Amino acid sequence: MISRRGTLSEDRFILVTAQGELSLAEVAAYLNKSGAHFQVEASSSQTAILYAPKLDAKKMMDRLGGLFKIGDAACVLHEKDVEDIDVLTEKLNNTAKFYDWVEDKARWSISTYSDETGFDTDFPALLQEYFKQRLRNDHVSKARYVPPKRTREIDQEIIADELIRQKILDGGFEIMAAHLAGKYYVGRTLAAISNEEYRKRDLGRPVQNPRLTIPPKIARILINLTGLGPGQSLLDPFCGLGTILQEAAVLGLKVTGCDIRGDRVEGAAENMKWLAETYNLKIRDVEKQVFRADAKNLSQIIKRPIDGIATEPILLPPLRSYPSEANATKMLQEAAETYEETIPEMAAVLRSHGKLVLVAPYIQTNSGSKVSFNLEDVFKEAGLKLHKFTHLPSLGTPVMAPPARDQKIRRGVYVLDKL
Ligand SMILES: C[S@@+](CC[C@H](N)C(=O)[O-])C[C@H]1O[C@@H](n2cnc3c(N)ncnc32)[C@H](O)[C@@H]1O
Repeated sequence: MISRRGTLSEDRFILVTAQGELSLAEVAAYLNKSGAHFQVEASSSQTAILYAPKLDAKKMMDRLGGLFKIGDAACVLHEKDVEDIDVLTEKLNNTAKFYDWVEDKARWSISTYSDETGFDTDFPALLQEYFKQRLRNDHVSKARYVPPKRTREIDQEIIADELIRQKILDGGFEIMAAHLAGKYYVGRTLAAISNEEYRKRDLGRPVQNPRLTIPPKIARILINLTGLGPGQSLLDPFCGLGTILQEAAVLGLKVTGCDIRGDRVEGAAENMKWLAETYNLKIRDVEKQVFRADAKNLSQIIKRPIDGIATEPILLPPLRSYPSEANATKMLQEAAETYEETIPEMAAVLRSHGKLVLVAPYIQTNSGSKVSFNLEDVFKEAGLKLHKFTHLPSLGTPVMAPPARDQKIRRGVYVLDKL
């Protein structure tokens, strides 16, 4: 066993993101809440470099739904450094902190990330060779290299699962290398997402309907975007089977949900009871928290101001092919009415300075355009203002979730502040 205490500060981090700019918005909301100073130095669709002093990677990973991994960016290399093996070796040698300690028979791995041109395809093999040698020099002779699990497509969820299953982060280590904005950032993985609990809450609950429900990790992102913490109240007025309510309850929030359909309300209540038992949560009077109501009448039903709202009112059915713009607009018409009629009601029950996090569908058309409805005037009249992510000026409005495989409809997420 060896010990190596690092000398470099852990100020710069590599984030492996699951939901593109939506993940970054979640990170910003999380760090803003703790008052931390931070900056996103570079980002691509799957990784970002974050500057943030005093970051507890494990705590952050437990809380956020939009990251696969957090690593430290201990060593920054330029593209020319990678072309020359001697320069590469020297730069890596000068980086003290790739591992603190390694068990003799530990397993170790390397994950590389790049979605940009200019990535040196020899780099992963060079890194592997370098670390083999470095371990030998450190007298760790029996450590075993575990290649990242290969599936037909690279699946970050499976890779994170394997890290945990093979106990690579306990006793061993994983090196992460991200190629971004012409640089290579190399460091060790500090935390990986534990998918197991999310899967349990998704697939272990008694009432399920994947065509209707939002994935629990995306629900978690929406909740984090409200900026709420334990003891504060969250409403989902289109609660369906209660995925958002369940994720919020696990985080210690007081939840209220309603749905226009009785069967959904029953399903959500049953799921909440299961959650309370499984996670030993004190959720009393589920029937009072989850009830049947039309969100058009919220202000008549909810009398106490709510601290935050996270909701997905309409999830359009999956499409087989990309529709024309005219067809997409037609599909959205009915949905638009629901938004127009219920946004003022949501604003009315929200406390001032509270946040409404609202998902709207965006349809990708056969001409390549994205069609949705324009809600600007509705927001304005309801006293809602688009939230400004001051540390992330490049974020879109709404913040878009990347399309899942073959998805023609994407989620646009509005983060709104009540004046
Ligand atoms: C996309 S689903 C929400 C799914 C939910 N996030 C989940 O994971 O189960 C939208 C829900 O809104 C409900 N709904 C539609 N119009 C409504 C209205 N005017 N008031 C309340 N609920 C409504 C539907 O019955 C449906 O269950």
